[in-house]
Amino acid sequence: MKYDINDFSERVSKKLKKKRYIHSLGVMYTAQALAMKYEISLEDAGAAGILHDIAKEMDGEELIAYCNRHNIPVSATEKKAPYLLHGKAGAHIAKKKYGIEEEYILDAIRFHTTGKPQMTMLEKIIFVADYIEPGRKQYSGNTLSGCGSGYSDTLNTIRKEAFTDLDRACALIMRNTINYLKSDKNKHIDSTSIEAYEYYKVFL
Ligand SMILES: [Fe+2]
Ligand SMILES: [Fe+2]
Repeated sequence: MKYDINDFSERVSKKLKKKRYIHSLGVMYTAQALAMKYEISLEDAGAAGILHDIAKEMDGEELIAYCNRHNIPVSATEKKAPYLLHGKAGAHIAKKKYGIEEEYILDAIRFHTTGKPQMTMLEKIIFVADYIEPGRKQYSGNTLSGCGSGYSDTLNTIRKEAFTDLDRACALIMRNTINYLKSDKNKHIDSTSIEAYEYYKVFL
């Protein structure tokens, strides 16, 4: 094993608040289960899963400052909604502090919030695992029941779909998320999320 996932987990537990650490563990195990199903490396899925939210304790100002300091480009939308940067900043931390060398693992961390068109299997697995891990609860953002959209893709449907048709699970998540964000004028939608949905909606 190239990476010691248990060591990562211990270090992450000291960095994140308990609730977020438990979420990260949930994403790690869910990603590993999906990796079993779709036959990719459990180690890659575990590393990306446990580290995906490593930058999420930083507030907006800290995230922007971190990105500026490390020459990570910040888009106009990210400036308005800096939490979107926790993927990019997290990938940077995973490389520098946890020694992750593979760009494809870093990309899975980088794009876990927005998704993107033509994701790799690992990227799709982390994107989906983040949404369906066992600690996630049903809320208006993932049922759409409160958004008046007429859709009823419950979290459980997506959980099942993840193990049946991963592309469709991605599309369902993207549709739910975009509709949820659109329902609130104060929320910002990253252009990458729109591009990702445009690509994946054919799987619906
Ligand atoms: Fe995240
Ligand atoms: Fe997460």
